[in-house]
This record gives sequence, structure tokens and C-alpha cells, in this order.
Amino acid sequence: MLTVAVLISGAGSNLRALLDTTADDDFPARVIVVGGDREADGFQHAEDFNIPTMLVPWREYDSREEWGAELGEQLAVWRPDLVVLSGLMRLLPAPLVDAWSPRIINTHPAYLPEFPGAHGVRDALAAGVAQTGASVIIVDNGVDSGPILAQERVPVLPGDDEHSLHDRIKPVERRLLIDVVRRIATGELDLAAVRDARTPRPTD
Ligand code: GAR
Repeated sequence: MLTVAVLISGAGSNLRALLDTTADDDFPARVIVVGGDREADGFQHAEDFNIPTMLVPWREYDSREEWGAELGEQLAVWRPDLVVLSGLMRLLPAPLVDAWSPRIINTHPAYLPEFPGAHGVRDALAAGVAQTGASVIIVDNGVDSGPILAQERVPVLPGDDEHSLHDRIKPVERRLLIDVVRRIATGELDLAAVRDARTPRPTD
């Protein structure tokens, strides 16, 4: 059984979908802890499922590095097989990413490498594209620049605003995330192989 830590900053709707799915005995992964960088509505979902929570409020730390070090220590206590960033709106410091790579994945509401960053939906609308999408990636030390594990296109419809478009992207994101977690848990998806396939070797 793959054990999963989920980190959030907001409503946690993708977390909720993961909790609903992993509650099924037949699903090969379990969420064992939910963490976040701020008081977030999404923690309620963890409470609904009696999942322990860990809050490491970034405002209480002098630097990203100190905040990340504490988050890393708390994560290490739980020893999850996989860390899922599910709407965590804070860049992780490199030592934390390096400690968990490649067992740390992120969801993003755009078709990466298009529209990385904190405003993927807004940026797609501002660019006037006809379609955007959803992606699940391995976290690396760039901004949404890690190897892509799954992605799917979502059309931008006439009259879409940030809210309506994000609402249509999220169900796609959820489906992709759940499928990626399932494939990692069954061994169908080898994160190290995906990461290494993209890392240039010294002989290249
Ligand atoms: C999701 O769309 C997620 O991809 C996005 O925040 C939303 C969180 O929704 N994350 C990013 O934009 C990270 N760059 P939720 O809290 O309802 O699951």
C-alpha cells in the first residue's frame, strides 16, 4: 500500500477527491497525513476522514529555507512513500525538493510547459488561447518545470472567466492525479525512471 502525504494551501477539492478515492479498500494508496503552509479550508476534508494534519505556517518563519526545513522534518516523521502538492501555493526550497525527489508530485491547472506559476488559469485567459489544460508533474527546483507524468487539454469557452475555467479544469486535474497515484502505487509508473530519462547524462 502506497502511503501519501498531501500538502495544500486552499480549498482542497483535489485532496477531497483523493481522500474519497483512497477510502476504497481496493485502491492501492492511502493518505496518511495532510499538511499545509497556512490555515486552509481543505484541512476540514482531512478531519472528515480522521487523517492527521500538520500545519507549518510560512508566515512564522524568517525565510523559505527555515520554513522548508521544518516542513521537511515534519514530513520525515510520517515517512510517506509519496508527497503530493495539491494546491500548495509556495515554492519549496531546494533541499526539501532534493530530499524527496522524485517521490514528490504536483498538480497544475494548465498544459505545462504553458502557463507555469501561481496564476496558470488567469494567464491562459489573458493569452487568449483556445485551449489550456491540466498537468501532473514531478516537482523539481524550477517553477512547474519538472517531468510531466500526465496531462490533458481543456477548451477555453466563450465567456469563460477565471472561476468558470478553473472549475472545468479541476475535475480533469483530479482524474489525472488519481490515475497517476494509482499507477505509482501499482508500479506501472516508475518515478525515478521518468526523472532519469529527462536528466541529461554526463556522456550526453
Ligand atoms: C488546483 O487547481 C491546483 O492545480 C492549483 O491550485 C488548485 C487547488 O485547488 N495549483 C497551482 O496552481 C500550483 N501552481 P484545491 O485547493 O481546490 O484542490
